[in-house]
Amino acid sequence: MRQKIEEIKNEFIKKIKTESAEELRELEKYFLGRKGKVALLFKELKNVPKEERKSFGESINALKEFIEKNIKEKISEIEREERMRKLASEKLDVTVPGLKLRSGALHILTQTMLEVEKIFLSMGFDVMTGPEIEEEYYNFEALNIPEYHPARDMQDTFYLLNKYLLRTQTSPIQIRTMEKYKPPIRVIAVGRCYRKDPPDAHHFPIFHQVEGLVVDKNVSFKELKGTLSEFVRRMFGEGVEVRFNPSYFPFVEPGAETSINFGGWLEMGGSGMVHPNVLNNVGIDPEEYQGFAFGWGIERIAMVKYNIPDIRFFYKNDLRFLDQFR
Ligand code: PHE
Repeated sequence: MRQKIEEIKNEFIKKIKTESAEELRELEKYFLGRKGKVALLFKELKNVPKEERKSFGESINALKEFIEKNIKEKISEIEREERMRKLASEKLDVTVPGLKLRSGALHILTQTMLEVEKIFLSMGFDVMTGPEIEEEYYNFEALNIPEYHPARDMQDTFYLLNKYLLRTQTSPIQIRTMEKYKPPIRVIAVGRCYRKDPPDAHHFPIFHQVEGLVVDKNVSFKELKGTLSEFVRRMFGEGVEVRFNPSYFPFVEPGAETSINFGGWLEMGGSGMVHPNVLNNVGIDPEEYQGFAFGWGIERIAMVKYNIPDIRFFYKNDLRFLDQFR
């Protein structure tokens, strides 16, 4: 019996050399489990002569305590090492260079719109806004484009319920302005427009316009020419010419297409004298007041000024393009 106790102790001492917590749990079971080595020894006690039982019992108990104590110490030692390793690996090196955060910047179209506004503000214009979800009346009827007018075909759009639509032009803001304010009026409006145009290098279903409207006594075409020429001078620099070609827009008469000469003639948008029907629609007497209006494409302006060959670049969100205008 004494020999068996010694053997188990020696076996334990050999096996405890492991470094794995998992193996230690196995060892615990193997030696101290319900059917483990120590339990078997206790069972064998009944085969020992009665007078020796007490002494052997004490020896087995001592062995049991020895094993328990060693396993416990070893487990906490392994756990401590594990903790130290973790701490060492998580050490913070405050001298490593930081990550640079990219700061945002205004989109080139936003920059262009702000610049356009700034120029007209300095020329005495106020800046108006209007809804992108517009009533059919403001987008078409009030602008002298009745329901079956062929001019609607060129401005097909996204129709919503109850005679609402996505505006095809900023011209409805002319009507909203004249309904609200009495002449003299001298405003621009910059904003997003929508048309059912398949995308190509010069068309996109979303685009932006700058609308201008001046209504006063004795306003003439001459003033329209002077205003746009001055805007072009400030936007594109000295020596850029503006050309007016006769053209038709139902809400102006006479009307003109406007182009600028910036290494070739490029069409910027429409313009003209506000049609008497439009003035009548908002209760302004055309005998007493005249007006001029224009609507130019913001994308066009930016494409010419920054030499951008394709309108789709504005809407791709490709940083290689956008970063050039930071
Ligand atoms: N709204 C017209 C368009 O989008 C442009 C325009 C504006 C023409 C004002 C004349 C006067 O085509």
